[in-house]
Amino acid sequence: MRLAPAELVDSREILPGQWLQAYHAPTLAVGSRAGQFVHVRAGDWSGLVLRRPFSINTADPVAGIITIHFRVIGRGTDWFTRLRPGDTVDMLGPLGRPFEVDPRSRHLLLIAGGLGMAGVRMLADEAIRDGRQVTLLFGAASAREVYPSSLLPDEVEYVVATDDGSLGQRGYVTDLVPEYEAWADQAFACGPRAMLATLAAQAAGRRGRLGVAKLGRKRGGGKPVAIGSTAARRRAFLQVSMEQNMGCAVGACLGCVVMGATGQPQRVCREGPVFASDELSWEAGW
Ligand SMILES: Cc1cc2nc3c(=O)[nH]c(=O)nc-3n(C[C@H](O)[C@H](O)[C@H](O)COP(=O)(O)OP(=O)(O)OC[C@H]3O[C@@H](n4cnc5c(N)ncnc54)[C@H](O)[C@@H]3O)c2cc1C
Ligand code: FES
Repeated sequence: MRLAPAELVDSREILPGQWLQAYHAPTLAVGSRAGQFVHVRAGDWSGLVLRRPFSINTADPVAGIITIHFRVIGRGTDWFTRLRPGDTVDMLGPLGRPFEVDPRSRHLLLIAGGLGMAGVRMLADEAIRDGRQVTLLFGAASAREVYPSSLLPDEVEYVVATDDGSLGQRGYVTDLVPEYEAWADQAFACGPRAMLATLAAQAAGRRGRLGVAKLGRKRGGGKPVAIGSTAARRRAFLQVSMEQNMGCAVGACLGCVVMGATGQPQRVCREGPVFASDELSWEAGW
């Protein structure tokens, strides 16, 4: 984790109210992994005290550039849209635990709901770089909120669902998943809590539906793994990236807690934001 100055080099409204910003921050671009996030401080003249967390959308260690993709929902995100190239913010990161891909996984299913695209976008780059096949399922309310395919690597198969059917399949992105669950070796998701809860339930029933109990054992080799460990995420079929309101983002304030499956509270900023879906209690009202 580093505290680094980040200079804005490009800022674009890519969808109504959604911005993609590129920052020159070489020390963050090197070593950041998909699923991690930065905690960004608005300038002194913003009047904002708390930093704002954003997923690392992409990282280019050669150019020293990281990007964030955000929706304007309040004072902080609105303030960031007013920055101009050359302006500097300070970023704390990379924070949190990343997605873990099993070395044997060839077919990765990425599932994003709305702004959840920012949570999984970088994993598409990493997977393509490592020679894996990627299908990305994306859900939005309507065509005007669909993430542009031009911002994805050409190698990604991109499948869209919209609630009103104005683009792609009509319905929720979770409706698309059954078609891909036999193809996918692992799945990675970010989006609204209800979407993640549905995916977690689908993942829990997958072995029974597909009869892949033996393959499942192979992945773990039968050895128990500690909850919260890298191995637990790597072994899971589904990993989810959680977004909770945050205060400190370094594990001190307990402002970001979700409930673990064993009844132990889990801090999204430290134990997450990426969890194996079966590490969380989806019934708990956090
Ligand atoms: C690990 C992590 C990664 C994130 N990555 C992204 C990202 O890549 N792109 C993006 O657009 N947003 C992301 N978020 C959410 C983002 O941090 C908030 O939208 C942002 O902090 C809001 O700041 P604001 O000052 O504009 O809004 P505020 O004025 O602070 O809040 C406006 C409203 O939004 C609600 N709100 C604030 N934060 C959150 C949150 N985390 N989840 C749900 N509601 C919230 C508040 O309760 C309030 O109702 C992420 C959050 C976390 C925890
Ligand atoms: S935000 Fe403070 S403990 Fe996670």
